[in-house]
Amino acid sequence: MTAPSLVSAPSLELISFSKRFGALAALDDVSVKIAAGAFHALLGENGAGKSTLVKCAMGYYAADEGEILLNGRQVTIDHPRQAHELGLGMVYQHFTLVPNMTVLENFVLSREHLPAVIDWTVERQRLKDFFATTPFIVPLDTPVADLAAGQKQKAEILRQLYLKRGLLILDEPTSVLTPDEADEVLSTLKQMTRDKLLTIVVITHKFREVNAFCDTVTILRRGKLVGTRRVAELDNDSMAEMMVGSRETRASVEREQRAPGKAVLQVEKLSVADTVGQLAVEDLSLEIRAGEIVGVAGVSGNGQRELVETLAGQRHAEAGAMKVHGEPYTATRREMVRHKIACLPEEPLRNACVAEMSVAENMALRSFDQPPASPDGVRLRRAPMRDAARRLIEAYRVKTPGPDAPIRALSGGNVQRAVLARELSSEGDLLIVANPCFGLDFAAVAEIRARIVQARNRGAAVLLVSEDLDEILQLSDRIVVMFDGRLALETPAAAADVGAIGRAMAGH
Ligand SMILES: Nc1ncnc2c1ncn2[C@@H]1O[C@H](COP(=O)(O)OP(=O)(O)OP(=O)(O)O)[C@@H](O)[C@H]1O
Ligand SMILES: [Mg+2]
Repeated sequence: MTAPSLVSAPSLELISFSKRFGALAALDDVSVKIAAGAFHALLGENGAGKSTLVKCAMGYYAADEGEILLNGRQVTIDHPRQAHELGLGMVYQHFTLVPNMTVLENFVLSREHLPAVIDWTVERQRLKDFFATTPFIVPLDTPVADLAAGQKQKAEILRQLYLKRGLLILDEPTSVLTPDEADEVLSTLKQMTRDKLLTIVVITHKFREVNAFCDTVTILRRGKLVGTRRVAELDNDSMAEMMVGSRETRASVEREQRAPGKAVLQVEKLSVADTVGQLAVEDLSLEIRAGEIVGVAGVSGNGQRELVETLAGQRHAEAGAMKVHGEPYTATRREMVRHKIACLPEEPLRNACVAEMSVAENMALRSFDQPPASPDGVRLRRAPMRDAARRLIEAYRVKTPGPDAPIRALSGGNVQRAVLARELSSEGDLLIVANPCFGLDFAAVAEIRARIVQARNRGAAVLLVSEDLDEILQLSDRIVVMFDGRLALETPAAAADVGAIGRAMAGH
């Protein structure tokens, strides 16, 4: 067998797609034309129907109506396998490669037709030959778990190319990447579309990426098509207006001048091991005072996740101590309630929700054993729980069919909003948030950031872990950089030197 080679870019036309979930029209007569070799953006608020549209096109969902033309010819896609055979592939924001297998193993084993006996020497050579033709490469024999986020996302894309997919649909592919990594991945893909080797459809909330890389953009609003335009014809305000239907003024809250108060959280010489037993956080000390936002900047994978998990009681420390309000803190649920600690970890659907439970139940996860949901801590009263959920759904504009819908049926951004509603609504003394605006549309980003500043203004201590340096710079009173499990830099935000922060993030 010869080495796989890059294929050529097809055109794709989706005609009159409709998809209902019960009473909700997630897609209503949406048509999109994507030219061969286009770099086409799909834009819309959280819940607008972007993921549903591409899942219908890929055969993950059965559309109620809709026709697909590939290179002008009608095709039927009832199952992802059919989409793959036609050369359509999908890349998600989360990774799908098997972490404890090497890149080589992942690639070869994901082929649809595998020989009964795999000749790994031959496969390795074929893959090497293939990498000689691709714009970037990844190490073949490294377990995927050991690759950095940017490398993993590159591997996901390379696998699609290896599987001869000429049209890639990317659903928020850069959420887990640093801006530099995102630019590197997107610009190589851009070159491949120019060379007519690939057609790209990308779902993103980042206008910057649309402007820098896409040539056309389709905008959805509440399941309906607003329009398709050339990116060059639109500025950010008109894109935002098409998304939300009006010129909304964005929420923003002034940071009140205030001197930080007493120490709320004290972390002393904390060491935490990662899943395979290596130290992910090493000898880390940090203090956060009332009315202060401390931003933890850093490239993902430098111990931030383990730090947050330890503070949230999902991981044990190997050494060191934590204190809240001067008392020893071991992150039990009881302590978190008593000290009024709210926490938003990464990947909330997995780490902060019970996917099968309803929106109302998920919103009550912290308070189900307290009044009014439970007058005596034993019995559960549904009505107050539902009422509380209705108020949060409205205040945080969570798009859900209602409080009783299972939370897994919500769009990615709306799960995030539901968890933020729960965590930000309690008047916490300590707020721990990791990448709070991950996957949110621009209006929601402004709103959530305003609420974080509000919490700080009323005296909460906030630990803000974020891979988005702009977010850190905008919100923090004090900034620390985490590199390789340690604090590499600490600076008041007012005196922050972005160059120095960037260098610290890169370990220089
Ligand atoms: N499996 C499902 N069951 C019920 N409702 C669903 C299901 N999948 C999506 N929906 C609903 O369809 C609507 C569109 O969701 P979709 O995931 O397509 O939004 P999106 O534009 O991708 O949003 P986001 O930017 O938040 O990812 C949402 O209101 C969502 O709750
Ligand atoms: Mg989505």
